[in-house]
Amino acid sequence: MSKTIGMWMYQNGGGTQIQEKMIYKLKERGINTIADLNLRYAVAKDEKMYIHDTLINNLDLFFSYNAGEQTQYQVYLYKIIDSLMPTINSYDAFNITEDKFLTSFTLKSKGVNSTDFRLCHRDDALYLKNFMHEWKKMVYKPVDGWGGIGLTKIENEATLDVLMPFLNQADLRFFYVEKFIDYDNSDFRVDIVDGEYISCYGRRAPKDSWKTNVTSGGSVFLREPNDKLVNLAKKAAAAVGADIAGVDIIYDREKEEYVVLEVNGIPAFATPEQEKMGLNFNDKKIDLIVNMIERKVKG
Ligand SMILES: Nc1ncnc2c1ncn2[C@@H]1O[C@H](COP(=O)(O)OP(=O)(O)O)[C@@H](O)[C@H]1O
Ligand SMILES: [Mg+2]
Repeated sequence: MSKTIGMWMYQNGGGTQIQEKMIYKLKERGINTIADLNLRYAVAKDEKMYIHDTLINNLDLFFSYNAGEQTQYQVYLYKIIDSLMPTINSYDAFNITEDKFLTSFTLKSKGVNSTDFRLCHRDDALYLKNFMHEWKKMVYKPVDGWGGIGLTKIENEATLDVLMPFLNQADLRFFYVEKFIDYDNSDFRVDIVDGEYISCYGRRAPKDSWKTNVTSGGSVFLREPNDKLVNLAKKAAAAVGADIAGVDIIYDREKEEYVVLEVNGIPAFATPEQEKMGLNFNDKKIDLIVNMIERKVKG
């Protein structure tokens, strides 16, 4: 019997063309795709879930690849869809990679070299002060942020004292901080699909900044990986259980080792502009995703 998967893929930055290629290649393997399945439009009728006329329960797999348009409702439903069929990424992996504390905790627990962090209740902020002595500098991070937004570097105890009343006012439940890593303001983004290496590129922070995010003014450049980087990225992807992962890694100049900063569960394909620059991994990434989907629906 022929198989049918559901797909929700981002459409900007060349996403539409990637989706078309993927659907075509799946079709060649006898797998049909129902695209644009935005769970925002899903309704549940007793045990059945529909998006417009599509009965979700009948799908053989759900491929969710749209970081920009996620809503709480969509995430809520993804959890139950995960119990009905294979999902890429799985709900568990998705849940971990969407949260910096869950990611860091999981990486540390599984022995993957990653940034040192502390988490404490908002009323225990004094606890953080201890680590200023030890670490010298730290980074405050919202656990659900992206694009470098809301990250604050705390350079000394005085900064922490100034910041604290603001953080308290912001009505946060807890504080998540990381040791500030001494690095050269550039990073490695290593993509892994199904445990295999796909690509590596770098991002450089703009002048006078310590954040490499493109949304914070960072620029992408071609960068060769080495075995250590690739192995670290594979370990990180496996630790969080991500079938598809974009692992952000920096080089700690003090400890002289690579550290994982975060694992992105929906790493973007190269945009048409980036492809012109020489980031030519899209076809390989599509092929490995298609292989994996085929294995999961037919397996
Ligand atoms: N512990 C750290 N030490 C030094 N720089 C950091 C640290 N954490 C993050 N950064 C810088 O900030 C950027 C954004 O941090 P990240 O944790 O990846 O959050 P986001 O989800 O917003 O991208 C990183 O790409 C890196 O340049
Ligand atoms: Mg990042």
